Amino acid sequence: MKEYVLITGGTSGIGREFVRLFSREDNVVVIARDIKALIQIKKECEQESQYHCYIIQKDLSDEGSVEEIYQELNEQGIFIKTLINNAGVGDHCLFCEGNLQTYQKMIQLNIRALTEFNHIFIQDMVERGKGSILNVASIGAFQPGPYMSVYYASKAYVLSLSEALYVEMKGTGVFVGALCPGPTKTNFQQRAHFHNEGLKVKQADPSFIALLGYEQIKKRRVIVINGVVNRLMILGIKFLPRGLIRQVGMIIQRSRSID
Ligand SMILES: NC(=O)c1ccc[n+]([C@@H]2O[C@H](COP(=O)([O-])OP(=O)(O)OC[C@H]3O[C@@H](n4cnc5c(N)ncnc54)[C@H](OP(=O)(O)O)[C@@H]3O)[C@@H](O)[C@H]2O)c1
Repeated sequence: MKEYVLITGGTSGIGREFVRLFSREDNVVVIARDIKALIQIKKECEQESQYHCYIIQKDLSDEGSVEEIYQELNEQGIFIKTLINNAGVGDHCLFCEGNLQTYQKMIQLNIRALTEFNHIFIQDMVERGKGSILNVASIGAFQPGPYMSVYYASKAYVLSLSEALYVEMKGTGVFVGALCPGPTKTNFQQRAHFHNEGLKVKQADPSFIALLGYEQIKKRRVIVINGVVNRLMILGIKFLPRGLIRQVGMIIQRSRSID
């Protein structure tokens, strides 16, 4: 079996930067839906690195997709030593005005596929006594998110699952952690239908976020949040009244726009 790093959503934003980092020193498996973008990434990886890039076109919100990927990788003799659960989507609107199918797909990608990936690969990792899983959550995981209610709730799930697995895996050689980025300059906001006009917030560079995640795995740190302001905000959430947190979240999210 050959060892690979698997990155979901590796064709854009933070995931693309994860692929750049890991492909310098490891074989990578990249998963996304856009086949043209996948082929382009494979080409770039193979130009820039001596390592192999294996691409899989898959919609991870489809039922059975994770199992199909696992079978394909087994047939290819590929062992996943590091799993980066990065693919995720959001939708910016009032819950009652949003589309149920959009929420269902979001839950299937952000929660179900992520859980299945964790479960399917963690077993092989435990058996081998080594391996790492990084689940990309968000600073939204720490509080309710009016106007992004399902997305924030899904990220709270990701954070909770990751922390629980981190503790369960102690002594096995397997690491599980949650990367919790603040706003980051990617296609995410456009895809999530943020307004074009309104409150603009400072956004991190996706290459910086991916580097933090890369170092997080090396240092085996359970939770990583980028930026002093984000960390202070999370600290504040622990001490400020919950009602205030909800209202401030509502005011900020309602007026947020694409930067
Ligand atoms: N950007 C931010 O402000 C921010 C902040 C905190 C956390 N995050 C989290 O960071 C992660 C990466 O987001 P990003 O900002 O880099 O977003 P992005 O630029 O929109 O990239 C999303 C990636 O996920 C893939 N993807 C989306 N839906 C998919 C599906 N159903 N099946 C398979 N792949 C799918 C996309 O490729 P295809 O479209 O080709 O499938 C793309 O490669 C997400 O989990 C997000 O929640 C982002």
